[in-house]
Amino acid sequence: MHVSFIFTLTALVGIGSAKSGCGKAIPDEFPSPGSSKTLSLPNSDRSYRIHIPSTYQHDTKAPVYFSFCGAGKDGHEQEGLSQFSNPAFNPDGIAVYPETDNGVWLSNQYAHTSHPNDLDFTDELLTHLEESLCVDQSRIYANGKSNGGELTAVIACNATVGSRFAAFSVVSGAWHETGDVPGVGACEPAKRDEGYPFLIFHGTVDQTAPIEGDVEDEIVPIIDVLHNWAERNGCDKDQKWARNVTIHEDPLVKRAGWDCDGKTNIVEFYREGDNGHCWPCTHSNDDYATMGRDKCPMGHYVFNATEIIFEFYSRYQLNSQFQLEM
Ligand SMILES: *[C@@H]1O[C@H](CO)[C@@H](O)[C@H](O)[C@H]1NC(C)=O
Ligand SMILES: *[C@@H]1O[C@H](CO)[C@@H](O)[C@H](O)[C@H]1NC(C)=O
Ligand SMILES: *[C@@H]1O[C@H](CO)[C@@H](O)[C@H](O)[C@H]1NC(C)=O
Repeated sequence: MHVSFIFTLTALVGIGSAKSGCGKAIPDEFPSPGSSKTLSLPNSDRSYRIHIPSTYQHDTKAPVYFSFCGAGKDGHEQEGLSQFSNPAFNPDGIAVYPETDNGVWLSNQYAHTSHPNDLDFTDELLTHLEESLCVDQSRIYANGKSNGGELTAVIACNATVGSRFAAFSVVSGAWHETGDVPGVGACEPAKRDEGYPFLIFHGTVDQTAPIEGDVEDEIVPIIDVLHNWAERNGCDKDQKWARNVTIHEDPLVKRAGWDCDGKTNIVEFYREGDNGHCWPCTHSNDDYATMGRDKCPMGHYVFNATEIIFEFYSRYQLNSQFQLEM
């Protein structure tokens, strides 16, 4: 309680002096509406890819959707895989694909010696975007695949930067320590009335990050990850899901949901029968094309995770964000 109060004050002071990008022309270095570009973050050694929607207007606040790539991948590949820049899924939001420092995110076991500054990077990038473009601070969302998925949880766990995101989603997360990553600190999200809406997708035949976990690789079972997010949202420890419905028969797809602190389905899980470590899409994508049939047996899937992610996000926004000066 005490701790989150201090973080809130810090955030207030930090953001209070910032200027909003609303009402200003898009700065020259950014892509024009309807296109994407990879940019360097000023005063930083980090970079990111960004897509500005064709509908963007400098006097209308746009939501921002971050999508973090898997280990060894880049923002351009994540843009293709996630389809977050595709107006069919995201007609009016800014899509952002941060680049890794050295191929892996902070949450990867191989990053423990290099310590990439991913939390500061995400925080600074978000501030830069809010100052440069017309951003709706109540609708900023984080997503990631595999190692980028666990980084999404590390962000949610951090009281400073996690508080700026309204909801989170992870596809085929490689969960090493349920968000308690060595060198990052414990999972201590700031307390907030909105909670931490969390949507997780995982394939039952994932060989990279097995759904039941892997003791040798220190991969945590998905059910533990779900229970931890339910508990952080006010559910009792190890509280059972409120519902677990079949949404497809063959392959068997189950959607489980937890109701915590009066919020229905604040933690949601798609259990993908016969899917591997691949981003669910009804058509082939980079995952299905590159990993092949031994790892992604169906070659495509029976739903588009991206569509479900945007539906989930549309249920959540922050009420208590700080206003930037105009
Ligand atoms: C939380 O994130 C901020 C950047 O937003 C970073 O400076 C700080 O070290 C992080 N805290 C922990 C405990 O990792
Ligand atoms: C939901 O149902 C499936 C199939 O019966 C089961 O394997 C799974 O453990 C249940 N719960 C969750 C959270 O997936
Ligand atoms: C799923 O997304 C792909 C684009 O990645 C699209 O071509 C396809 O029509 C979508 N499927 C459905 C059922 O909406």
